[in-house]
Amino acid sequence: TTATDDTLRTPIVAVLGHVDHGKTSLLDKIRGSAVTAGESGAITQHIGATAVPLDVISEIAGDLVDPTDFDLPGLLFIDTPGHHSFSTLRSRGGALADIAILVVDVNDGFQPQTLEAIDILKRTQTPFIVAANKIDTVPGWNPNEGQPVQQTMDAQSDRVQSDLNEKLYEIIGELSDNGFSADMYWRVQNFQANIGVVPVSAETSEGIPDLLTVMMGLSQRYMKEEMEIDTTGPGVGTVLEVKDTQGFGTTLDAIIYDGTIRNDDTIVVGGLQGPIVTDVRALLRPRPLEEIRTEQEFEQVEQVAAADGVKIAAPDLDDAMAGAPIRVIRDRDRSEVIAEVEQE
Ligand code: GTP
Ligand code: MG
Repeated sequence: TTATDDTLRTPIVAVLGHVDHGKTSLLDKIRGSAVTAGESGAITQHIGATAVPLDVISEIAGDLVDPTDFDLPGLLFIDTPGHHSFSTLRSRGGALADIAILVVDVNDGFQPQTLEAIDILKRTQTPFIVAANKIDTVPGWNPNEGQPVQQTMDAQSDRVQSDLNEKLYEIIGELSDNGFSADMYWRVQNFQANIGVVPVSAETSEGIPDLLTVMMGLSQRYMKEEMEIDTTGPGVGTVLEVKDTQGFGTTLDAIIYDGTIRNDDTIVVGGLQGPIVTDVRALLRPRPLEEIRTEQEFEQVEQVAAADGVKIAAPDLDDAMAGAPIRVIRDRDRSEVIAEVEQE
C-alpha cells in the first residue's frame, strides 16, 4: 500500500464556531494537551494546526474505527477563533479546509459567529458536520468518560435524555432554517445531502470517538479523490501567521496543501509590496500531536509533504502577509510562479 499512501494527503479539517462554544477544548481533548490553559485571555487569537495520525484516531475511537478501512493518513485540524473581531482568520481557515466541524454549544444554540461560519462554509462549499458540544452540562447528566455517544445517552435518565434531545432538535431546526437538512449523525446515510449532528463533550470526551469516526469516514468516502495528489511535486500552501522565531528571525507558520516543500527550495510568497522570492533556510516542524502555535522546540526537517503545518525560516520575510499564497519554484518557470502568486 506504500505507493497509494504516497499520493494520498491528509484532509484539512477546520474547526469553526461561536466564541466559547468549545473548539479549542475539543482539539485539546483530541491531542491530549492543554492549549486552552496557555491562551492569553482564553480566546484563540490565531489559527493553529494539529496533525492527528490514523493510529491515534483509531486508538481514541476504539471499536468505532477499524484502521484497515482507511488509507488516508489521518486528519489535520485547524483551530479558528470565535471572537467576532477575527473574521478574516475564520475565512482563511474555512477557505483552506476540505471539511469542517461546526461547534455549537447545546445550551447556547446558534449565535452570530455560528451563522457567520455557516456562511463561510456555504460560500466555500465545504462539507461539514455539527459537533453539539457540552452535553455534560445537561442538568442530571451522568458522565461516562470517553464513551461513544449513543451508549452514554442510553445510560442517562429519561428526563436527561429528553432534555438533551430537545436541545439537539433545536440545533437541527436552526440548521434547517439555514437551508440544511440535518439529523443525528447515526441516522444520516448520505453526508453530502444531510448534515450529521454529533453530540459531544469536550469536558468528558463523550462522543469524541464518534466525532473522529464520522470525520474519518466522511473524508474517506467523499474526499478521497481530491486527496489524490502528487506529493512529490513543488509545494503549494497558505501563510497562517508571520512571526518572529528565536534564532530564525521572521518566519512563516504555513499549511502546505499540495506537493512538497524542501529545505533547499526557492519559494515565492505574497508580500505587502508584491511577491517575495526567497530561499528556504530551514523547515521547522512540531512533532505529530503537538500544536504548531505553542510548541517551543521545533525539529528541523528536510522536507514537508502535504497536508501539514510547517514553520518556514527564510530571509526577507518581513513583508510577508498572513493569508498569502506560498509556491515552490523548483523546476518550474520562475516568472510563471511569480505571476501565479501575484494573481492570487
Ligand atoms: P474561542 O477560541 O474563544 O472562540 O473559544 P472556543 O470555542 O475555543 O472555546 P474553549 O474551548 O476555549 O472553551 C470555552 C469554555 O467552555 C472553557 O471554559 C471550557 O472549559 C468550556 N468548555 C468547552 N467544552 C466544554 C464541554 O464540553 N463541557 C463543559 N462543561 N465545558 C466546556
Ligand atoms: Mg479557541
